[in-house]
Amino acid sequence: MTTDLLNTFRISIEDYYRANKRSLPWRKEVPDPYEVWLSEIILQQTRVAQGTPYWEKILAAFPTIEALANAEEDKLMSLWTGLGYYNRARNLQKGAKQIVSEFEGEMPTTYDELLTITGIGPYTAAAIASICYDEKIGAVDGNVYRVLSRFFGISTSINQTDGIKEFQSLANSIISSTSDAASYNQGIMEFGALHCTPKKPFCMLCDLADICTAFKQGKVDELPVKVKKGKRGSEEIHYAIICSEKGIALRKRGTDGIWAGLYEPPRLQVAPKNGEELAPAIVHKLSHKDLKCHFWLVNKEILDEPITYYTKNETGDLGMPIIIANLVENIKI
Ligand code: ADE
Repeated sequence: MTTDLLNTFRISIEDYYRANKRSLPWRKEVPDPYEVWLSEIILQQTRVAQGTPYWEKILAAFPTIEALANAEEDKLMSLWTGLGYYNRARNLQKGAKQIVSEFEGEMPTTYDELLTITGIGPYTAAAIASICYDEKIGAVDGNVYRVLSRFFGISTSINQTDGIKEFQSLANSIISSTSDAASYNQGIMEFGALHCTPKKPFCMLCDLADICTAFKQGKVDELPVKVKKGKRGSEEIHYAIICSEKGIALRKRGTDGIWAGLYEPPRLQVAPKNGEELAPAIVHKLSHKDLKCHFWLVNKEILDEPITYYTKNETGDLGMPIIIANLVENIKI
């Protein structure tokens, strides 16, 4: 790859960003690193339109790193309900506690220091360091893999070590010559999110089409390459739906698993004999498996452990997996 091509690409991306930058509440003249951190964690698995209202309400509830560090777990989880990937919230809080204890509550200001914080990996560290402190490290997220693999025609797999290294190194070379690291990194993500999209990208309107390797070779739809890892798993979950005048029976999950610390109805080992289902089973897709959730209408005697009931009002303050939050919302209690 010639330096000229890298420069041409970078300048086009910076031009694109100037012309198409979305106005988002954390994109300020002087960005606040805590606000940017929160936005980057939320946007890792969530689109801007869906994530922004969560960003607003979480920031309103916890306006500083210290407030987030001291947040009650249930409160944070209830605000996160619906975003999924709850480990993001748990790690965010661990990171906040670490910043309070090791950095006097002030966000670290370099890529290397940011990487030492729980929940901040190479992508998030590069995003914060470039957006807030003008450090020239490429932020490589799914958008960036797509744009770079297509433009430069790279078919190394993006979910294996050599591909991850190759794309990071290319991103770092491109950004090294900029005078505005924040605009380049945000620009390439914006370009991937809005223009060089996974399906039906806007190649016909693209200023880069003439020099885009994938476009010229007719392989836009084949890039990026990702190796398939095994078959998705599946699991059946049987929930006991028990309601009384005191509300619905819920339990807080323990400290393990993806829904740790969240509230849900008690689980049964197997489907009850001759049981009646409240509604058809719901399939909840996680990144690595499908959960098929059954909701059985049963009597409280089916459980041996004590039961805690929650009224609809009380459930508003609990963190719950989204399928359970929806169930509770719709059920008559
Ligand atoms: N998606 C995630 N982070 C982003 C950012 N900083 N700019 C544009 N899109 C993004």
